[in-house]
Amino acid sequence: MIKLLAHLSYVAVTSPDVEASVRFYEEEVGLTVVDRIDDAVYLRCWGDHYAYSVVVLPGEQPAMDTMAWRTSSPEALDEAVSRIEAAGVTGEWVDVHRIGRAYRFTGPWGHTMTLHWDVTRHQATAAAASCYPDRPERRSKMAGAPRQLDHVTLACSDVDAFAAWYSDVFGFRIMARTLLDEAPISVFSVLTTNEKSHDLGVVLDGSQTPGRINHYAFWVDTREELLIAADTLLERGIPIEYGPSIHGIGEQNFLYYREPSTLRIELNTGGYRNYVPDWEPNTWRPSQGSNNFYRNGAMPMSMTESFPPADGPSATEEGVPDEIRDALLNPYAKQGRG
Ligand SMILES: [Fe+2]
Repeated sequence: MIKLLAHLSYVAVTSPDVEASVRFYEEEVGLTVVDRIDDAVYLRCWGDHYAYSVVVLPGEQPAMDTMAWRTSSPEALDEAVSRIEAAGVTGEWVDVHRIGRAYRFTGPWGHTMTLHWDVTRHQATAAAASCYPDRPERRSKMAGAPRQLDHVTLACSDVDAFAAWYSDVFGFRIMARTLLDEAPISVFSVLTTNEKSHDLGVVLDGSQTPGRINHYAFWVDTREELLIAADTLLERGIPIEYGPSIHGIGEQNFLYYREPSTLRIELNTGGYRNYVPDWEPNTWRPSQGSNNFYRNGAMPMSMTESFPPADGPSATEEGVPDEIRDALLNPYAKQGRG
């Protein structure tokens, strides 16, 4: 298979209060508004190469509207569409703002994905131009403002089947997964189009609600920036949901917090570079520190919440079965570290 996908290009999310979310992205995260078209607001990080990387749309609940990947060539876009339709899924060609021709479909677990080759590259104003020729705009003066969009982590009812489908259809490399210590239940997996551990993650979802997102993430260049971001978020009265700490899987530093819609966003940095084309994914256990490698603190229960909030008669309040949630929340009990 030729390389089909190049990288995650934008994430579109919904918010019950678009202006509150946009204000937060501008003032607390460090993004810039580039366009307002009808009810949609388009934003970018200072280091994003294209016109935008985040779209905020009105919606009754926080959710993901679509995740977009740029293909590696025009031919790769056509090939990707052929492979999607050969897998029994039919999408449609759409015209996307400042992108143009794109193919949009809904995957087997209800997540909408948009593929495109065409883009509009960001053109900085003279006042915002960088002295680095390769940098699309000068570095933000805001502490901890992310350089660029990094990854998206979805929620679905069958983690291994999800990973296999996206790997088979698009060639994502599966880099790792987590099985519960107590039972052979796959609760997390990471996939990548590039040398990092993931630009696509998936967590187990016990709810009946399809197409949910757990979080999406921005990249900062250094751990120090991530720590400064944590410091200044707290100084401004914004709660940190989890972190700063380091994931065992991917060896990445993380920090999670919420935007006003309640959608979870992450700052991410560090981690390995892996170029092995036939990488064999390791199976981690939570007790090894797959999520928090320091293993000195349990994950808050709120981290099991995905978006939109779960509904349906068999869903627990957080959309995760009790035994799985308990195992995730206290994964170190076996080691006496819980
Ligand atoms: Fe993440």
